[in-house]
Amino acid sequence: MSRTLQTDDRGQLRTVDQTLLPFEWRSITLASAEDCREAIVSMRVRGAPLIGAVGAYGLALALRSDPTDTRLHAAHAWLLSARPTAVNLAWALDRVRARVAELAPGERAAAAWQEAGRLCDDDAQCNHRIGEWGAPRLRASARGELSSARPLQVLTHCNAGRLATIDHGTALAPIYALAAAGVPIHVWVDETRPRNQGASLTAWELAQAGVAHTVIADNAGGLLMMRGEVDAVITGCDRVAANGDVANKIGTYLKALAAADNRVPFYVACPVSTLDPASADGASIEIEYRSAREVTHARGRLPDGSVTEVALMDESVRALNPGFDITPARLVTALITEHGVIAADRVAIAELLARGTVGDHVATGREQSR
Ligand code: MRU
Repeated sequence: MSRTLQTDDRGQLRTVDQTLLPFEWRSITLASAEDCREAIVSMRVRGAPLIGAVGAYGLALALRSDPTDTRLHAAHAWLLSARPTAVNLAWALDRVRARVAELAPGERAAAAWQEAGRLCDDDAQCNHRIGEWGAPRLRASARGELSSARPLQVLTHCNAGRLATIDHGTALAPIYALAAAGVPIHVWVDETRPRNQGASLTAWELAQAGVAHTVIADNAGGLLMMRGEVDAVITGCDRVAANGDVANKIGTYLKALAAADNRVPFYVACPVSTLDPASADGASIEIEYRSAREVTHARGRLPDGSVTEVALMDESVRALNPGFDITPARLVTALITEHGVIAADRVAIAELLARGTVGDHVATGREQSR
């Protein structure tokens, strides 16, 4: 399968419009900073690592027409304002700006484009390593002999797969690694209301990869965990605070609560680009509130094959749509990073950020007790 974001020889980006999946695969071209920002705001591209990558290229494109300091800082701020919760966007924009800030204006656009490309290569490599670290952790969660009749049962929320990254995904990377190794595995896919990233995107990409899966309503996970039908939960993240609190798609917190109550390990796949030492804890992370229309309406396919939007409730109904929630660190069994598996706590995160690498050294009381 090819990478989610590609460049062409005209210096443009090619990707898939994720708002149309799973019913239509339409390739789109992003040729300007404006195109990149629009794609992030409209969620044609989404998922923390992917919006970081598109933001990085967007900054490079902005510098093509005007490589001055003024434009560099203004475009950085303007792209950053596209979506607030995923720290990868700020991380990627900072990385590109730092790379070009000291260069002569005439050299900036090409250097920024190159840096965005390196960032994408790094993302693919990091995610591959998350897969390698995470696979044995998930495998060890199995409650007995695995077979096709009793596969490893993993529950995931939202889409933290290939579509959310350049390649491999974060939360789905260990699942792909296990499937490639021939381990019998089945994924419970949370539908992920209101935008249905699980039903529309995760189910689609698992089907492409030939990984067995079943979509469940968001509220079904607790019952499945209580009945022993979930060996482990793994999600992605949009930002991890210095104390290990995790911001991820709305509904993640409830899954973590249910997992803790049922002694099911709850893993968060977390590239280092998602760690935010500037956020002391989850309370300081800005939560994106999106349009109420995402709650009051839904998109679907009619029997004639056409795709349309329908109202789910009366126009007079008020709705609220927080896009993310915070899972407290105490509910997270471990963070699976590209450098190893660490505890979701202040010390382990600070050590990782200081040293740049860790061994597979996590053994928290919480994890041992599940
Ligand atoms: O609103 P979205 O679809 O961008 O939210 C995506 C998520 O919450 C993912 O879990 C997260 O960004 C990690 S993607 C590897």
